[in-house]
Amino acid sequence: MAEFKEISPNASATEKLTNWFDNRFPSAFSAYRDHMSEYYAPKNFNFWYFFGSLAMLVLVIQIVTGIFLTMHYKPDAAMAFASVEYIMRDVPWGWLIRYMHSTGASAFFVVVYLHMYRGLIYGSYRKPRELVWIFGCAIFLVLMAEAFMGYLLPWGQMSYWGAQVIINLFSAIPFIGPDLSEWIRGDYVVGDATLNRFFAFHVIAVPLVLLGLVVAHIFALHDVGSNNPDGVEIKGPKALKDANGKPLDGIPFHPYYTVHDIFGVGVFLMVFTAIIFFAPELGGYFLEYNNFIPADPLKTPAHIAPVWYFTPYYSMLRAITTEMMYVLIACVIAAGAFAVIKSRLPALGKVVAVVATAVGVALMLAIDPKFWGVVVMGGAVIILFFLPWLDQSPVKSIRYRPSWHKWVYGIFIVDFFVLGYLGTQAPSSIGERISQVGTLFYFGFFLLMPWWSRLGEFKPVPERITFAAH
Ligand code: HEM
Repeated sequence: MAEFKEISPNASATEKLTNWFDNRFPSAFSAYRDHMSEYYAPKNFNFWYFFGSLAMLVLVIQIVTGIFLTMHYKPDAAMAFASVEYIMRDVPWGWLIRYMHSTGASAFFVVVYLHMYRGLIYGSYRKPRELVWIFGCAIFLVLMAEAFMGYLLPWGQMSYWGAQVIINLFSAIPFIGPDLSEWIRGDYVVGDATLNRFFAFHVIAVPLVLLGLVVAHIFALHDVGSNNPDGVEIKGPKALKDANGKPLDGIPFHPYYTVHDIFGVGVFLMVFTAIIFFAPELGGYFLEYNNFIPADPLKTPAHIAPVWYFTPYYSMLRAITTEMMYVLIACVIAAGAFAVIKSRLPALGKVVAVVATAVGVALMLAIDPKFWGVVVMGGAVIILFFLPWLDQSPVKSIRYRPSWHKWVYGIFIVDFFVLGYLGTQAPSSIGERISQVGTLFYFGFFLLMPWWSRLGEFKPVPERITFAAH
């Protein structure tokens, strides 16, 4: 047992109380010091650094409003839709809780997408923060599962048919597909069994995993220290430190960044509440109009689209047609030819490349494009995990990269938006063509990164962060 710290009998009551707790629960105090008052963060954080704490805020909002929704919601196919209407109309303040939760779902993705974009432009996924990024990507995957399962619960037309379409995708997997999708549903079609299990996952299993991952994400970050807009390490062996070993370019997280983040929270809450009070459906983007109609297994809606945060991936799924498969096969053959002719692989490696290309092409010809659509959609998220190794640029931050890199990132964002927009629209031949080009660009951006991220003239990275006091 650690030694008891004595305190002067003349100390104030607060000091005595603090000392009493410190002697009985010292790890709480050291955690506070490690993560708040003595966690040194770079001085030059800008607004992009609001989104991590905002993601935590939205997580708390979702958990708290979710608990209250559960008090009146009925996870039963015969009662679910009516129980949500009851919450909206009869439960005192129920409409507010429900709109906070539905708007919170979209806000979560807005905040997380901006948070990921910040990581992308400042190279925050690079050494030594690879694990911070990997935990982040896992959070993103789990968040998608959480949102997908939550969307079934109101048991509206879109809940029902959206789940039907997505679960049916699994049946495209050769051999095990049909059994797998039946196993997920717990029935031959989406039904009461599906609703019950999605409820169980949505309210407890997945949130627990999410919370665990968020803790791992932040602990891993605090072990290696935060990156910053300059991508200059403030804590590494080469970093400048004062006589006490504190980084010269760092400031304690508390109070400096707690105050900074509270400002971000203020701005966020203004936008968040404005949407809740004035436009909770946000033109059908946050709450789809078709979801105000109870689920009807006998009436398929003319146009089924997921909520906006899934639509870029949905577009990629729809882009994989028989025609597109030929383009993808050409890409695989080109990659194989490159490995054989241009790369510095040993002879055995080249043989493996030829065999892998041949097997790949044979599988692409043999299996239904619907399956490859699912592979592409999943691959679009999985590829993010590999970003730390795909990026070979000699500098981290976009600030010191060649100017044309900014254009590449800019086009990537436009591409993501266009794919997102097309995913909300009914299929059309022009839309299909654009989403095919968009899908190729999306994957080209990542898969060719080891090559293009090294090209161009890089600017010298300063030794210390650039910071102007305001
Ligand atoms: C529930 C979702 C998430 C929460 C609550 C969360 C929370 C945080 C917090 C509080 C920070 C430190 C403050 C900041 O740098 O903004 C942070 C940093 C970071 N997060 Fe997340 N995060 C989430 C999701 C993600 C996702 C999906 C990714 C990427 C796929 C990601 C990647 C990162 C990276 C790379 C950093 C370090 C940034 C730097 O030091 O420049 N996070 N996160």
